Amino acid sequence: MTRRRMIYEGKAKILYEGPEPGTLVQYFKDDATAFNAEKKAVLDGKGVLNNRISEFMMTRLAGVGIPNHFIKRLNMREQLIKKVEIIPLEVIVRNVAAGTMSKRLGVEEGTQLPRAIVEFCLKNDELGDPLVSEEHIAAFNWASPQEMDELIALSLRVNDFMSGLFAGVGIKLVDFKLEFGRHFENDVQRTILADEISPDSCRLWDLETNEKLDKDRFRRDLGGVTEAYAEVARRLGIIKESAQGAEIVSFNGAPK
Ligand code: TYD
Repeated sequence: MTRRRMIYEGKAKILYEGPEPGTLVQYFKDDATAFNAEKKAVLDGKGVLNNRISEFMMTRLAGVGIPNHFIKRLNMREQLIKKVEIIPLEVIVRNVAAGTMSKRLGVEEGTQLPRAIVEFCLKNDELGDPLVSEEHIAAFNWASPQEMDELIALSLRVNDFMSGLFAGVGIKLVDFKLEFGRHFENDVQRTILADEISPDSCRLWDLETNEKLDKDRFRRDLGGVTEAYAEVARRLGIIKESAQGAEIVSFNGAPK
């Protein structure tokens, strides 16, 4: 392995300098954290699955005209991405009440919402990613009014596309979190989707049984976390059959 300069280490991923200017390498770790990193574990094979699932989602989204940072997958745990300046907001889209929304508003988990709801949280671990309003975002200039319009429009398009995609494989897209970045190319600035889309950042329930196929299995000690992620990958056709799935799950190599 050639030594690469590490740019940033997050909870579930590491970013390295890319081979060309304007690119980065995104490495998916097996580390899992929840409740603002109070709960931690290493889940063998999670990074491999999230690398593949995120590749699949970003590629499909690009195919319907949603610009994103994904360039290509490099190996089991790494993908080449476009370097962006991350907008310091987490955009959450909800179709069904769950998690903090249920707690905060007393809406029973599993309640279908009358329409998709978009929320914003400030990306700040020390503060526990607090919910913020558009007023806060404008006043503190975390995103421009034009960017806000783009974030909402793009997130709802992602929701429409992904809801249909998951429904087609028997999965309900309950909610998910997106991050966006400012991409600069030849002096032109564009808002593009960044980070990852995986069962770490989505709530995915089996359409028939409501079985959880996402990070809530870890948050709530339900067990079978990577098995559930592998099931999502299998249903999306990313990994062929459970035997091969197990092969991918057991891979625990260092980056090539
Ligand atoms: P939410 O219910 O707000 O928070 P929590 O996961 O703590 O219950 O989460 C909504 C969705 O967004 C859920 O699918 C998890 C995802 N999410 C993240 O991936 N990272 C985050 O920092 C937050 C706040 C949410």
